[in-house]
Amino acid sequence: MTVTITRPARRRPSFHALPVDAVDRLTDDAVAITFAVPAELRAVFAFKAGQHLTVRRVDPDSGEDVRRSYSICSTPTELAERGRLRIGVREVPGGAFSSFACAALAAGETVEVMPPLGHFTTDFDPARTRHYGAVVAGSGITPVLALVATALAVEPDSTFTLVYGNRTARSVMFAEELADLKDRYRERLHLLHVLSREPGESWLLSGRIDADRLGRLLDSVVPGAQIDEWFLCGPYGMVTDAREVLAARGVPEQAVHTELFHVDATPPPPRPATAPAAGADVTIMLDGRASGLRMGPDERVLDAALRVRPELPYACKGGVCSTCKAKVVEGEVSMARNYALEPDELAAGYVLTCQATPTTDRVVIDYDA
Ligand SMILES: Cc1cc2nc3c(=O)[nH]c(=O)nc-3n(C[C@H](O)[C@H](O)[C@H](O)COP(=O)(O)OP(=O)(O)OC[C@H]3O[C@@H](n4cnc5c(N)ncnc54)[C@H](O)[C@@H]3O)c2cc1C
Ligand code: FES
Repeated sequence: MTVTITRPARRRPSFHALPVDAVDRLTDDAVAITFAVPAELRAVFAFKAGQHLTVRRVDPDSGEDVRRSYSICSTPTELAERGRLRIGVREVPGGAFSSFACAALAAGETVEVMPPLGHFTTDFDPARTRHYGAVVAGSGITPVLALVATALAVEPDSTFTLVYGNRTARSVMFAEELADLKDRYRERLHLLHVLSREPGESWLLSGRIDADRLGRLLDSVVPGAQIDEWFLCGPYGMVTDAREVLAARGVPEQAVHTELFHVDATPPPPRPATAPAAGADVTIMLDGRASGLRMGPDERVLDAALRVRPELPYACKGGVCSTCKAKVVEGEVSMARNYALEPDELAAGYVLTCQATPTTDRVVIDYDA
């Protein structure tokens, strides 16, 4: 294997051991984890409201390197002023990280955390007057809590309408934090709780958030026509329904931000028809170093590249988090799925390497781009 230094190294985001300051129970099955970020790391962890970070834990039983993404629910100001960085984790039964976080993680321990990234955000500006809208369900509130708090604090003339779906009142994550925000911004925060397994405040607010209910909400209590920017975060079906309803009402695609936490595993798609049967020669650029490898026709670029560069960034390996994003600078690849990259990134040649299979004999993939 040839490895050559080809250009000055650029610093890639890497894991840092952050002390856990508190683990607060939010509901029977969810906790908020607050990290105390030391002063010297605050610039490294600087983020925009709505972004997420990656945590890593080596499973003591299996030895597996478990990496998961969690959205930040605290605000950039809290990090800058107090070193406070907080995430909300809902337990997925049997889940490798969320079960550990909800049952065993305690204040005083440390967690390996990679600095924030993600597109589920906007440029807040005190001079702007906007009406933001969000449709979220369950743990999908986590990034939106940061967005609501930041929008209302930074833009004194902006308003936020939040439609928040849960099964029952007891399962509402961040109920207190939202009530506090409602108290502070009584006129500018419009908060609608929708409950699917117990009666909500009205028949319209009782049931699942689907296309029909969202349409009715937009026809009555949610001032859709006045909303400039939308944020959608929740299960795949809810996000897809909401996108379709908004598109049918003429909301431009650029005005709708979406974040998915999980997409059900589907059987691996067949190898792209144009993939070379003998595999491909791949060059990986990372931290200014080029590493060459030969990969098989049914492999994904990330899996193959990890053999020669185990420090490559990744988290979900499912096409949703974008941690494995890199640019194809020579050759072509085909992606099995993409729930994370925006059209402009695709046009610029970026791909999710966990989903990419070469369709040319040789490809060069740049993680530093
Ligand atoms: C960008 C991004 C942001 C995220 N933000 C948050 C957040 O703020 N709060 C939060 O709680 N989670 C969030 N997630 C989900 C989180 O990363 C994990 O996927 C989740 O906690 C499950 O991890 P686990 O290790 O416990 O379960 P795993 O061991 O990965 O999975 C166990 C089983 O549950 C299934 N599964 C995995 N995740 C889900 C899910 N979300 N819903 C239903 N089934 C699932 C798996 O397919 C598997 O069968 C986010 C994910 C992404 C990509
Ligand atoms: S690792 Fe999450 S999209 Fe590739």
